[in-house]
Amino acid sequence: MMKPLLVLSSLLILAACGGGSQPQQSQPAPATPVQTEENAAPANPVLSDLGTQGKSLYESNCAACHYLDKKLIGPALQGANSRYEEAWLIKFIKNSQAMIKAGDPLAKQVYEDNNRMVMNSNEHLSDDEIKSILVYIKEAGN
Ligand code: HEC
Repeated sequence: MMKPLLVLSSLLILAACGGGSQPQQSQPAPATPVQTEENAAPANPVLSDLGTQGKSLYESNCAACHYLDKKLIGPALQGANSRYEEAWLIKFIKNSQAMIKAGDPLAKQVYEDNNRMVMNSNEHLSDDEIKSILVYIKEAGN
């Protein structure tokens, strides 16, 4: 019955000093976990390679009009991946005005909801490039 307890308390001691290499004198494990810089939440989201590629495309093509978390000229993009289908997003981002003129009900709705503000077209971006921007939005804001 003693062994699991011993293992547990040495784990606690290890965790409390961040797995540091200094040998520990026999101290009782602290009652509350110690908040160290290592276990604090990261300030920046961890991005995949695709998300990193998307971030730079986002910064050069989208950031002038969009924040992730609040409205700028266009709406906040956080959550766009769950609000719309990927295929719809790719088409809209490439040329929203063409979709609006063709009568796509969702595109017309977005346009009306944003005081008929025109989003520029992005025909120069490939589907894969737009997908990487969507990955970035997902990883940075969801
Ligand atoms: C010139 C400003 C401008 C730029 C640049 C721009 N957008 Fe927009 N965006 C808008 C506006 C305005 C709207 C809403 C009105 C509309 O439909 O045109 C919008 C709407 C959207 C929507 C729909 C959001 C929702 O929740 O309804 C998405 C998604 C979007 N933009 C993505 C992008 C992406 C990705 C880029 C970069 C490739 C981009 N936009 C670049 C102005 C811009």
